[in-house]
Amino acid sequence: MISYQSAKEEIKQAADIVSVVGQFVQLKKAGENFVGLCPFHGEKAPSFTVSQDKQMFHCFGCKQGGDVFAFWMAYHSLSFPEALKDLAERYNVQLPEKHFTAEEKKKADYRETLYNVNELATLYFEKELTHPVRGKPGRDYFKRRSISHSIIEEFHLGYAPKGWDGLKQFLLSRKVSLETALTAGVLKRSDKGHYYDLFRERVMFPIMDLTQKKRVIGFGGRVLDDTLPKYVNTPETPLFHKGTCLYGFDASRKAIRETGRAIVVEGYMDCLALRKHGLKEVVATLGTALSETPVRKLKGIGKEAVVVFDADEAGKSAALRTLPIFLNERLSAKAVVLPNGHDPDSFINSSGRDAFSKLLNAAPSLFDFYVDQKLGSRTQDIDQKVSILEEILPILAKVRNETQRSLYIKRLSEKSEVAESVVLSALGGIKQSSGKGRFKNDIKQQFTSVNTNRPIGEIQLLNLVLHYPETVADLRGHHCRLLISDPMIRRIVDVVFDRQSRSEAVTVETIQERLDRNEDRIWLREFAFRPAFCSDREVKQAVRDFIGKVQKKKIAEAFKKAIGDPRAINEILKKKIAAGRPFGN
Ligand code: UTP
Ligand code: MN
Repeated sequence: MISYQSAKEEIKQAADIVSVVGQFVQLKKAGENFVGLCPFHGEKAPSFTVSQDKQMFHCFGCKQGGDVFAFWMAYHSLSFPEALKDLAERYNVQLPEKHFTAEEKKKADYRETLYNVNELATLYFEKELTHPVRGKPGRDYFKRRSISHSIIEEFHLGYAPKGWDGLKQFLLSRKVSLETALTAGVLKRSDKGHYYDLFRERVMFPIMDLTQKKRVIGFGGRVLDDTLPKYVNTPETPLFHKGTCLYGFDASRKAIRETGRAIVVEGYMDCLALRKHGLKEVVATLGTALSETPVRKLKGIGKEAVVVFDADEAGKSAALRTLPIFLNERLSAKAVVLPNGHDPDSFINSSGRDAFSKLLNAAPSLFDFYVDQKLGSRTQDIDQKVSILEEILPILAKVRNETQRSLYIKRLSEKSEVAESVVLSALGGIKQSSGKGRFKNDIKQQFTSVNTNRPIGEIQLLNLVLHYPETVADLRGHHCRLLISDPMIRRIVDVVFDRQSRSEAVTVETIQERLDRNEDRIWLREFAFRPAFCSDREVKQAVRDFIGKVQKKKIAEAFKKAIGDPRAINEILKKKIAAGRPFGN
């Protein structure tokens, strides 16, 4: 019988952590490890570390870490059973049904029912779109908007027909509880307790996640005319968080990787229009301001973002708001502003792909665009200038790359006609008040934090067993646990010895699974990234030294007990002589 542990092992054999993580984070080789910018927190210098050898990752900045499953769970916001299933499917590993804890299973099953509702709803909307009568308004609408048949198929577009309960009845016929459909966000409940369809007479855009199966997490639905609201989206649900997802990302990932660029637009229609014209590296925000989470995901895949905004004031101010995020996340960004009255969809449909590509290629950096917009035509007004500088400087202060920052300062000075030295000194003031410490090199700080005040001998013992697990039997047999006074190291070593006594593998990842405290797990992961303190040739001697130390300690303790008992002391001395050298050092 296959167990879930063996399936897990089999997946690990197939799913090399460097290649799995590498699909979502740009990794560079650094010594024995790979490093990249952490997808889980904002950072400018890479402290996200992946070890091929240990098949583990750890971020020295935010302390997230673990094996390939831990990565998959955190990156895609999945439960463990979901991650296991997803990776099993990806790597063709057969999975047993049981073997999860009741709680894990309950949580996974619950989320599974929500995915299921979304997938049924997608199916329903797709079918309705093809219905000869009911689907006609939707088909006509897509035709009017130049959405081709192949785009409809690829993006699983659909139509929610007129009426209050089409989807509701469909879900009931598929044995879905109305309560579940409500949680999934596709139905609503009136004050009187009646359930009804949220989406009615709307063309439907399912939103997919980035996992293997591209599961549907939510929807956007557009009216066919000018009624308001123009779009209705799935409300926040356990699966759907509007601010953190991008429409079309699942479909564009490959193209973003290939071209190195992500085109960011504001709307569903814009995304599909660019796509239809062959610009496949496009993603859309869901009408919300671009937040860190999607930018972090983009920078893991592409080298730059080109943000395309509508020419209207709302579009421009949305563009301006993204600058701090791109600077913070250190993803280089350009800005395209379309000719008046256009959005990406209308522009590419009227002027064609070449005209659009020209705009993309000529796009100024987002920073230049920002400064130009802010300074605008009011450059002559001194008060304005001051207030604009006050606005830009705190953003600039966050740019850590010196070259980049000095270029920006130069540009700002040219454009504002304020001397560079003045900009610089103003910037200096800001940096000081925002606390110097924040700009320190995180990595160094994190690496040194590993070793806080723990006895060096104990640190070395743990280092030895992690790098040379073959020494564990000997060390355990000679009671080397007695050498450890530090409670945390003792908790870890206990697991190590216990696993060895059961002939189980001793690896960082299996040890940390058995540690109850999160702080222990974090500490261990960081510690495991430290190199071995001795070389292969010195291992035997190191073991002998530890064993000698234990014996010395045992004898010292026996002496303490034997005080006032000459016969006992004599016995101990005999033993001590028999033991020979070791404690002479
Ligand atoms: P736009 O108003 O620019 O719509 O909103 P659009 O994408 O150009 O749509 P068309 O071309 O008129 O069909 C941009 C995005 O903002 C969100 C949607 O995600 C939309 O694609 N939005 C807009 C809403 O969520 N609700 C709304 O009422 C309007
Ligand atoms: Mn539009």
